[in-house]
Amino acid sequence: MTAAELDAAEQLGPDGLRALQLERLRATLRHTYENVPFYRAAFDRAGLRPEDCRSLDDLARFPFTTKADLRDNYPFGMFAVDRDRVRRIHASSGTTGRPTVVGYTDRDLDVWADVVARSIRAAGGRPGHIVHVAYGYGLFTGGLGAHYGAERLGCTVVPASGGMTARQVQLIQDFRPEIIMVTPSYMLTLLDEFERQGVDPRSTSLKVGIFGAEPWTEQMRWEIEERFAIDAVDIYGLSEVMGPGVAQECVETKDGLHIWEDHFYPEIVDPLTGEVLPEGEQGELVFTSLSKEAMPVIRYRTRDLTRLLPGTARPSFRRMEKITGRSDDMVILRGVNLFPTQVEEIVLRTPGVAPHFQLRLTREGRLDALTVRAEARTETSPEQRVEAARSIAAAVKDGVGVSVAVEIVDPETLERSVGKFRRIVDERPK
Ligand code: DLL
Repeated sequence: MTAAELDAAEQLGPDGLRALQLERLRATLRHTYENVPFYRAAFDRAGLRPEDCRSLDDLARFPFTTKADLRDNYPFGMFAVDRDRVRRIHASSGTTGRPTVVGYTDRDLDVWADVVARSIRAAGGRPGHIVHVAYGYGLFTGGLGAHYGAERLGCTVVPASGGMTARQVQLIQDFRPEIIMVTPSYMLTLLDEFERQGVDPRSTSLKVGIFGAEPWTEQMRWEIEERFAIDAVDIYGLSEVMGPGVAQECVETKDGLHIWEDHFYPEIVDPLTGEVLPEGEQGELVFTSLSKEAMPVIRYRTRDLTRLLPGTARPSFRRMEKITGRSDDMVILRGVNLFPTQVEEIVLRTPGVAPHFQLRLTREGRLDALTVRAEARTETSPEQRVEAARSIAAAVKDGVGVSVAVEIVDPETLERSVGKFRRIVDERPK
């Protein structure tokens, strides 16, 4: 990547960036205090005024915002501009209760396209590339977010959206995209389809996959890179903060995701006490938007667990480590915390099993029990299946510290992802 290809913010030194952040932070605090009753009340309760933020560290004195706060203000109560300035609405599905609604002004959409364009460029995309977008289009931010960012970079976009897997494979062969943007789990569904159609997935035009919207592991990266002969990089974001493009992994280093800190200010807090943790410590990621107009967020609790690291390929921007889990996806089994990514790591390195698995949560008496269901490969013998089950159970016991049951099921029997995949099937009585 040459300096000429970087944008102005990517070339800011650390002092320039901190100064820009503070100025934007103070403006955001004023904007929310003046225009959103929820924030005014929250700041008043804490005895704080926007002017009390004199340094970036002062942000820690301000109250958090949670998903519940967004739900309580459903649908438009968190908007900080008149409704007629809101050009677009997105919403997260919300498995429980009301969806979370977010809004964007013209300028917000512009910034969003810029940060996604910057992300695609960091992933190796260049003007003129063809980008196949298989994130879902609609209220979900994945499809449209990726779409406008790719256009902004000067790419040709194929707005495939999710689903109709056989056709996706056809389009990839016919249009010859260099880049695909899709959830990693759906990429595996595409892999199956390539093989079903007798097409070698390593033979496609694809060079880079930009994967996100769900947690995925280094093992999954190796699997996808190897099977498709592409580079696989991570993109992160959430609708409450913007959508995809909050942070992006650079293809030249593949060492975690650079946070586009000129627009999104990160903190890591202790999930239980809310105390800000020093750089390098693992905790819950919290974001404050620095330039959003329609729906700014102050100290939004993402529930995503990671840690902050110094910048590498983009030295001014800090990195976040690949997300290991989300506090919501954590299973507590006999007092031991388990994340689906820990099982993913194990399943993907076990011989004889395909990279498809699910976690079935049941209750036996008063205790929760977990069954890992993994799929055998077609060529796996019955003896190898037994061995695979034994080896997965032993690795979970050793690595995570808890006993689980393992079932190796027949090939092509587990549900396939069409977008964001839910690994955990909760069959516990309500
Ligand atoms: O998933 C936005 C997005 C679309 C990101 C496409 C990347 C690509 P939400 O539906 O609001 O937005 O879900 C946000 O998804 O808090 C994380 O728990 C999870 N998530 C998103 N990206 C990653 C990632 C979009 N790269 C929630 N790794 C977030 C792990 C991710 N988890």
